[in-house]
Amino acid sequence: MEPLAPDKLPNHLAIIMDGNGRWAQQRMLKRIVGHQRGAETVKMVVEQASLLGIKYLTLFAFSSENWSRPAMEVRALMTLLKKYIIRETARMMRKNIRYNVIGNRGDLPDDVNLALEDAIRETAGNTGMVLTLALSYGGRQELSSAAVRMARDVAAGLLRPEDVTVDVFGGYLDTGGLPDPDFLIRTSGEMRISNFLLWQLAYTELYFTETNWPDFTINELHKALADFQSRERRFGMTSDQITKRT
Ligand code: FPP
Repeated sequence: MEPLAPDKLPNHLAIIMDGNGRWAQQRMLKRIVGHQRGAETVKMVVEQASLLGIKYLTLFAFSSENWSRPAMEVRALMTLLKKYIIRETARMMRKNIRYNVIGNRGDLPDDVNLALEDAIRETAGNTGMVLTLALSYGGRQELSSAAVRMARDVAAGLLRPEDVTVDVFGGYLDTGGLPDPDFLIRTSGEMRISNFLLWQLAYTELYFTETNWPDFTINELHKALADFQSRERRFGMTSDQITKRT
């Protein structure tokens, strides 16, 4: 495995976990089996990211658009999520990980919401990695809801339009309080953002791998992180300016 420099890891790693369905179909299995195997990969990545000292891990677990999948797959995914949240909370406590959720919680079934509320409450005092699950999440939906909330504050006289800055607007997003991701991994060979963290990914380094999510291993994670460490992040500046800054 490639050695990783602990001081050059991403502070915030975001992942689009894709390819569960194809993984299953290639093996003549039901799509839900792919999601079940995908949940095992989630466990591994959460454990590794926390061990490595990554502070924020955000996983795209269910998109606003995923509701249009066959009802049986949606139900099975919701059950899987609920089971994962309930089963893993004890481990999150042991590993000092705090649960967080972004997305439209109101769309989720009541039992999933209850499990989430319990897990968030129970882990609220943890000071290690923040594990954010994006559930019923869509970047455009998040941006338009933020704009509505901000407009309401302006109408109520709580905010002046001239005081709206990038930071003020960012605070209205579901991710208010979280730093922007430094690194995004997407599995399964698709090279799209698919409505994930549209605002927050402005300067994020992107990494795409052909591997389907259920086959994504520790080695692959380390390879991706080693790739991140080899990159120079310039945020619009020149190479020289960056060298002088560090
Ligand atoms: C994309 O694969 C994956 C999803 C829509 C769901 C992700 C869910 C998991 C990894 C399991 C449960 C999650 C947690 C947090 C425990 P796809 O079905 O779109 O694959 P395909 O593009 O090959 O059809």
